[in-house]
Amino acid sequence: MKKRIGIIGGGQLGLMIAQAAHRLDAFVTALDPSPDAPAFAEADARIVGAFDDLAALERLCEASDVVTYEFENVPGDILRHLEGKYNIKQGIAPLFDSQDRLREKDNARMHGLEPPRYRAVPAIDDVPLDAEACAALSPQSRLLHLGMSVGKIGMPCVLKTRTLGYDGHGQAIIRDMEDMEKAADLLSVPCILEEMVDFDFECSVIMVSDGKDIIHFPVSRNIHRDGILDLCIVPASGLQNGGGENDLCRRITASCESFMKSCSYRGILAIELFVKGDRFYFNEMAPRPHNSGHWTIEGCTTSQYMELCHFLLGLPLKRPELISPAVMKNILGQDLDAAKTVVAESLVGAGPGIEVSASEDVDNAFCGEAGKGVYVHLYGKTQSRPKRKMGHITFVPMTPERYYSGWAARFV
Ligand SMILES: Nc1ncnc2c1ncn2[C@@H]1O[C@H](COP(=O)(O)OP(=O)(O)OP(=O)(O)O)[C@@H](O)[C@H]1O
Ligand SMILES: [Mg+2]
Repeated sequence: MKKRIGIIGGGQLGLMIAQAAHRLDAFVTALDPSPDAPAFAEADARIVGAFDDLAALERLCEASDVVTYEFENVPGDILRHLEGKYNIKQGIAPLFDSQDRLREKDNARMHGLEPPRYRAVPAIDDVPLDAEACAALSPQSRLLHLGMSVGKIGMPCVLKTRTLGYDGHGQAIIRDMEDMEKAADLLSVPCILEEMVDFDFECSVIMVSDGKDIIHFPVSRNIHRDGILDLCIVPASGLQNGGGENDLCRRITASCESFMKSCSYRGILAIELFVKGDRFYFNEMAPRPHNSGHWTIEGCTTSQYMELCHFLLGLPLKRPELISPAVMKNILGQDLDAAKTVVAESLVGAGPGIEVSASEDVDNAFCGEAGKGVYVHLYGKTQSRPKRKMGHITFVPMTPERYYSGWAARFV
């Protein structure tokens, strides 16, 4: 009988988990509130339900031998209820720890990773105000609270809502008084204020642990635009020495692995870091496959999705090796037409019987090689918007120099 994997969340991460699970002959059920969620196209069974709909979540768990999550904001009390009853193999601890930026950074420090300097705000005598107290603050007192914290952290700094932020949403950079007045609006909910790290570059470490062995993927260098991941480059310059990891990279991966062990997390964990000189700072973590690991599907001997599934199915983990230098380009709404054109061009050359002349002929969902070493993944989201993640392209083999001189100009 096939092993049954349940996925809480049906976005692109769920889609790619389901693709890997199918390669291991598992049966996949996904749950998502949206009837046209990308993962539903790949899943064997689907449950349309909200992430706080306990009955729907229980149906998912009952239909699965093992459950994972790709969505981070399932309410904690619901998770606690499910954890005791069903096989949520990663446990809920890493999810709970990552749901609140204050808890996440306190936890990182406690387990040996250094975040940028931060403070909870609004707070009185260093005790953070709760959501209700924040909502009751007048605009003047918000500004006063922010002013006191900015005084302690210094400018420039970044104000972030503690919960529910993603892709730069719920954040404000503060460089001067004018920014401070605009940012103070965020303080109607609990926030965290962080020093702005003048980093040399960003990178991420993706690990999978089965409680005994721990593996990590080659570290990618991540380039963000407007707070959203734009490019991943592997190997990461600054972290490589000839063919292998340099000393800094080894310190980064060893610290991340030791953090994961110290927290007793199992399954998959991605850690985003800022690198400055020979120091590195913990930015945030995600106990699920990560956008900066999409490239592992074609660029590594095994992918983040496959290793998560190995863990879920109780199969031995496989240590990933880089196949060739790779570049991953995120396709946001503004780049969707360009990505479709890349696919259309490859189909034009595909031979008799296939005629594609314009980008609109390409279905929104596509997964495959569009030209040699150009792997296009379009997630099939029915609504495209600027800044919405609609797909990605992994180029392998590819160097950043070749990407910038050849491909970059095709995208916005
Ligand atoms: N303290 C900081 N110093 C410097 N840059 C920062 C800082 N915090 C955030 N940034 C920049 O903003 C980006 C997004 O921030 P962060 O990862 O906290 O938010 P997010 O909304 O959870 O993003 P995502 O969901 O895309 O990971 C970072 O990758 C980095 O480029
Ligand atoms: Mg981030």
